[in-house]
Amino acid sequence: MAEPYKLKRWLIFNEDSVVSTQKWVRERVSALSDRTVILVNTQTAGRGRSGRAWNSPAGGFYASFLLKPAPPIVLAPCVSLLAAVVLVRLLNRHGISARVKWPNDVIVEGKKVAGIIAEAGSFPESWFILGIGINLVDAPLIPERKSLPPGAWAEFGEAPSANVLLEKFLAELDITWPCREGNPISGIIAELNSTLWSKGEEVSLTEGTKTYCGVVVKVESDGSLVLLTDSGERRFVSGELLTVSEGRE
Ligand code: BTN
Repeated sequence: MAEPYKLKRWLIFNEDSVVSTQKWVRERVSALSDRTVILVNTQTAGRGRSGRAWNSPAGGFYASFLLKPAPPIVLAPCVSLLAAVVLVRLLNRHGISARVKWPNDVIVEGKKVAGIIAEAGSFPESWFILGIGINLVDAPLIPERKSLPPGAWAEFGEAPSANVLLEKFLAELDITWPCREGNPISGIIAELNSTLWSKGEEVSLTEGTKTYCGVVVKVESDGSLVLLTDSGERRFVSGELLTVSEGRE
């Protein structure tokens, strides 16, 4: 294993290939310190949300970030949203217009360029692992995909290297969320809502076995999504969004 290096307050491990960076951190959670990152070139069994796989060909950005102790559990969805806003900012700075698809995807021109997963636990101590996958050059298919097609950064502009992107991501993350006790999105809620995918449009939201239809109104500062449904405004804390036109396909 290569020696880790320090990047401001973070300790970075760089590996060529692991099974999954989420799994790598989880297996070492007691030994690793707070603010540890692993960044790899490829994963052999990357994990997506809802039990899906995350195909991880060489040359993408695959990283997991350990926060120990975990932020307060109520803030967990907000950490993912913060990461999505930071990625949108970085894409914007490269001249690429991107959107946050609630609860934690990054979309460019209707294609999913990045996905975020957050896992937390309390054994043997409190931990929180944020995982980020970004298609830099290739856009592999998302198994069992029900929503948007995948896209790669390089389709829309010159993609940075994964190491440069990590450095920029961490700098932006630390500036935007300097105090880990605080709500990571309270200071960026307007920015989040201005980049919200499908805002003002009709969508369907699937939560477990139920599907709801409504117009996307906003994300609240607790990370919940507000939809205007036939029975008025309704808040959701989890779910998968589809545009109504996608749902009809
Ligand atoms: C999703 O959209 O379903 C979330 C995808 C998260 C993928 C990243 S890649 C780095 C980290 N390691 C994993 O196994 N998964 C996350």
